[in-house]
Amino acid sequence: MTVLITGGLGFIGSHTVVELIEQGYDCVILDNLSKTTINVLEKIESVVQRKVSFMKVDMLDIQAVRSVFEEYDISAVIHFAGFKSVGESVKNPLVYYRNNLISTLNLIDVMQEFNLKKLVFSSSATVYGDIHTPPMKEDFSLQAPNPYGRTKLMLEEILSDLVLSDSTWSIALMRYFNPIGAHKSGLLGELPFGTPNNLMPHVLKTASEGTSKLQVFGGDYDTMDGSCIRDFIHIMDLASGHVKALEYIDKNSGCEAINLGTGIGYSVLDLIHTFEEVNGVKIPYEIVNRRDGDIIVSIAEVGKAEVLLGWKAKYNLADMCEDAWRWYKSIKKLN
Ligand code: UD1
Repeated sequence: MTVLITGGLGFIGSHTVVELIEQGYDCVILDNLSKTTINVLEKIESVVQRKVSFMKVDMLDIQAVRSVFEEYDISAVIHFAGFKSVGESVKNPLVYYRNNLISTLNLIDVMQEFNLKKLVFSSSATVYGDIHTPPMKEDFSLQAPNPYGRTKLMLEEILSDLVLSDSTWSIALMRYFNPIGAHKSGLLGELPFGTPNNLMPHVLKTASEGTSKLQVFGGDYDTMDGSCIRDFIHIMDLASGHVKALEYIDKNSGCEAINLGTGIGYSVLDLIHTFEEVNGVKIPYEIVNRRDGDIIVSIAEVGKAEVLLGWKAKYNLADMCEDAWRWYKSIKKLN
């Protein structure tokens, strides 16, 4: 079975390609290289020890998307391609709406032309907003807090409407909690592009440079240590969740939203202390003001993924910290 992976050279995409190939799938990677580099393809190939098909395509160009389907006999699509920075989306909402929405519409149009109706879509736990008491369940009402999140929410709605209009589609909407970590080989991980936004890239930068302090946004929340709580999930667990989702949509039509998380919440300070402990490095930090728009506690309800996909996360926070640091040291050439 040949699977098209859009955004397949990004953080989640590249790890998913490795997992798919290890599970016996053929992969075709599509990426426009706007937030990654072609070197990631070589790294994937050295992990899986074989050549992997790749096409440089900007999905805003529908003819270019069509050309991929003309070239390869695709059986299903996992769609990761999209912009993901919350801050950038607030500054340039139209860029986000245009890129994330139109590229997906182009993909769906071309899939329909080729009568291919199996899609795994990369959504986000951000669609739960801050209106619920965790753990977040897939049938909660949705409310995205920023333009990036709204592109995910709008796309979930578009895809659900599509299935309502044509029940032969099979779509899984994967809602990720906080993916961190890296492949065990140290060859793949999250490339540092521009100023980091998320917590782990900041932790890695602080650990390697040792010059500035990590800023912890808020120490007075109503949590056990005052910092926010997140459901951190190892990137390889996320990758295996996609393979299971693919197996599921291959056999079942309809549209299902599915959380990918561990169901366990750790605080920002837990993550810092675990990182220090397992890696034997210091992370100097300071508690600063709360960050606008932060959700206090975000934890997944994981029962649906277990029942529907037969999938459960298996890595713990120590694995995530150890693997992320191994990867970062290798790209920064640290000992
Ligand atoms: C953020 C986005 C979310 C997006 C997700 C994945 C916001 C408000 N939310 O989620 O929409 O889907 O990334 O890209 O931006 N933290 C620090 N210091 C730092 C960085 C982060 O204390 O330097 C804290 C944050 O305040 C938060 C936790 O670490 O409590 C996790 O932050 P982050 O990694 O940005 O993820 P989310 O906020 O969960």
